[in-house]
Amino acid sequence: MDVSSNQKIFLHPEILTKDYLPDTLLFREEEMETIIRKIAWLLDGSIGINVWITGSKGVGKSHATKILKRDFNTVAEKEGYPARAVYVSARGKTIREVWQDILNETFKVLGIQRTIKYGTSSELRDVFIETLNKSPLKGLLLIADDVDKLKPAYTKSRSLKNQDEFMFVITRLHEDGLKKNFNSIVITRSASFKNLLSAPTRSTFLHHPIYFREYRKEEVEEILRDRAEKAFAPKTVDDSAISYLAEIVTVPIWKGLDLGFYILRKAGEVADKKGIKRIDQTLIQEVVNDGRKDMIRDTVASLEDRELVTLAAALLTAKNEGYEWCTYVSDVVPALLVISKLLGTERFRYRGSYIQKYPLVVLEDVDLIRVYKPFHGGNGRSTMIVFNEDIILLKEVVAEELAQRFNVNANDIVGLLGN
Ligand SMILES: Nc1ncnc2c1ncn2[C@@H]1O[C@H](COP(=O)(O)OP(=O)(O)OP(=O)(O)O)[C@@H](O)[C@H]1O
Ligand SMILES: [Mg+2]
Repeated sequence: MDVSSNQKIFLHPEILTKDYLPDTLLFREEEMETIIRKIAWLLDGSIGINVWITGSKGVGKSHATKILKRDFNTVAEKEGYPARAVYVSARGKTIREVWQDILNETFKVLGIQRTIKYGTSSELRDVFIETLNKSPLKGLLLIADDVDKLKPAYTKSRSLKNQDEFMFVITRLHEDGLKKNFNSIVITRSASFKNLLSAPTRSTFLHHPIYFREYRKEEVEEILRDRAEKAFAPKTVDDSAISYLAEIVTVPIWKGLDLGFYILRKAGEVADKKGIKRIDQTLIQEVVNDGRKDMIRDTVASLEDRELVTLAAALLTAKNEGYEWCTYVSDVVPALLVISKLLGTERFRYRGSYIQKYPLVVLEDVDLIRVYKPFHGGNGRSTMIVFNEDIILLKEVVAEELAQRFNVNANDIVGLLGN
């Protein structure tokens, strides 16, 4: 028997996961150089300026800065420079949790075997300052990702108060007793974020953000091809499969390299299971919907009950307007009562004002929806919700998740949400 017929073609599945950090990013040389020029000061010990990076979803902001952190620390260690970089993501965290991460990451780069789990944010900040002051380092670079995605405070409206408070503090650590060089790179998806900060906070940042533009379709193709070549055995992925995939992931609401990697991974798994020796367009077509559904499922499974139920109520009232599916807060409120009845609980009788302050903010942060507020006047109930996902897939996934969590009949929910 021919041994090669048993050979798998999907050799390195890990290369197509979210956690895989490539050596470099394609088409980002200029941006990387600009950032490095701004922070090189840390290695020679002079004072720098805070950097702000912005760009839309999936353009490589997080990975660019993680690569930067990795390479910065490698060079510093190798050359004996007394500086280090730490990376934290603020996504979905409270300010206190972010400080905890900053502190624990700082312990790590200093080689201190310690993790802290308790303390208020100001206590954690004080320990951070003390630790850094006592360390042999001359400077620290803090990379704070997704600061526009800090967890919203329950009681406040979605002002930037939380974010501004955090940003103000990290730009003023010297006034709190920090004696070392310290600068930060802050990353946001929202391009207007900086303008919404208070003047004192804003003034410590580079005037213009470093902007990560979106990739053109040919570039997306190139990135996908590069990744596929590393993950699969030589010459097993068709060019036409890659072009088709690039086409799909550049459709606005399907957008995303991560989705592209995910679909390639699905295709690889199916190929090896069935003994298929090539990844072609037909195979990609076959796994596209499953791949998307899996990704939506991951997101929906991460929601808390109130967010999930609010999403279901929004889906119940979704209308097709032009190319997009949308609804209004004023429709979601009564729909919550319908869903509550079905689930047999009174827990989810929310007012429009609450929905806007909390569940919708989270749903927007995980990219399932976009929220548009009316410009003037209005009472907020006319706030519009636009779905970012394929509505049929989303309904299916939400119905399955509700059925499972609340122990109700999935068919009832599917029937209610309709198609
Ligand atoms: N230029 C590139 N070359 C290779 N891979 C890339 C490139 N840009 C992005 N990627 C990959 O695409 C995925 C998304 O990138 P990343 O998470 O850094 O995006 P982001 O800008 O942080 O998005 P978000 O706003 O959603 O956080 C990652 O797996 C990353 O490795
Ligand atoms: Mg990111």
